[in-house]
Amino acid sequence: MMARFRHWERPLAWWAAGIVVGVAAVLLTTAVTALVDDPGRLEDNGEIVILSGRDDSLGGQRQELVNQWNELHPDSRARIVELSALADAQRSEMLARAQSGRGDIDVYNLDVTWTAEFADAGYIQSLDESRIPEDGFLSGPLATCRYNGKLWALPFNTDVGLLYYRSDLLDLPPQTWKDLEDDVAEQRARSGNDVDGYAGQFADYEGLTVNALEAIGGAGGSVVDESGDVVIDDHRVAVTEGLDRLRKIAPTGVPALDEDSSTQLFRSGKALFMRNWPVKFKTLTEDLEGAPPVTFDVAPLPSDSGVLGGQNLAVAAGTDRPRAARALIEFLTSERSQQILFERGGLPATRKVVYSDPVVRERYEYVPTLERALEHAKPRPAQPHYARFSQVFRSAVDGFLRQSAPLPDDIQDQLVGALKGRLAPASDD
Ligand code: GLC
Repeated sequence: MMARFRHWERPLAWWAAGIVVGVAAVLLTTAVTALVDDPGRLEDNGEIVILSGRDDSLGGQRQELVNQWNELHPDSRARIVELSALADAQRSEMLARAQSGRGDIDVYNLDVTWTAEFADAGYIQSLDESRIPEDGFLSGPLATCRYNGKLWALPFNTDVGLLYYRSDLLDLPPQTWKDLEDDVAEQRARSGNDVDGYAGQFADYEGLTVNALEAIGGAGGSVVDESGDVVIDDHRVAVTEGLDRLRKIAPTGVPALDEDSSTQLFRSGKALFMRNWPVKFKTLTEDLEGAPPVTFDVAPLPSDSGVLGGQNLAVAAGTDRPRAARALIEFLTSERSQQILFERGGLPATRKVVYSDPVVRERYEYVPTLERALEHAKPRPAQPHYARFSQVFRSAVDGFLRQSAPLPDDIQDQLVGALKGRLAPASDD
């Protein structure tokens, strides 16, 4: 079932839901603190500093939750240090802070793909799994918190690629990537190229890796299998088909878009489709400042090929406030906090109860769409050298999309080497 939304019909309802009624008053429990044995006794020797990427939620809900924590814990106050909106820039900055050994960070809000890297490097502390009632979390996001048999974090918000489409121009979303390609061609012809193709994230950063993996998955191909082995050579035909399609459906010239600029393009009415994360649904429906109306619906990506994203909260290895850090993480990932992040901020919750609640389902029509996309979401490899792998992969993708260069003959070896931490050849740097 697809969410059906006319931009001018619903903002009032959403606004009313958020401000007047507040979040659905259906989750009566707040998680019992289990990560800390005596939650009344936290260290009070200074602020708990959370290093995090930009808060994309509507109304800055991460900060709102921290404000709530601070009211409840005046002696163990927390502060968010916010970094760039771009995943790669966040990672570099977080690594630099972790490597400095200054011990001035207590909690890292890590992209799902860096948990293994930070754990392996000894920058974060593992959590005692036996103390966490884990069955409340969605299993996919929780799995991204594990590495090497241990739990290193709790999932703050999850993410999955979704297909936003102009419902005034299309009756139904495409079910296959071939249909999507046909829709783009038809719309280009009909509009004299005024409404261009599929606004994805095509700039040279993690967004491009994700978009390429989704297009490849949509063609039935794989780059890495479920056990983390590189299998691109076995899937050359599908990989080429998927990337070829991405080149055709991308807006003309494959512009270097990121999450924000693809949203702007879609919002301006110049794209038939947008690939983006769920939080943009809320941004597009409620934060309409200066935007001409665009009528849209949202659907899972064709063939359910969306990639799993999200952020995980981990305790820094060098903190001298580990009890307070753990209690804060538990607070931020509790049912109540997850409900607020989703209902007010639009960030996909990591707790099952938020999706199954009848009030939430009735109020937010797109919940079944999101749920289905999350159910099928494909994780990226959880390995310490993932970032190098991603760089090597997308440098080949970039060449393919922008210079029509075929994938390198030795791409399989390059990717295997990258996952083992081998340096890429100088020409690929
Ligand atoms: C979002 C996702 C994250 C992904 C990033 C790529 O922040 O949550 O997992 O790596 O986008 O741009």
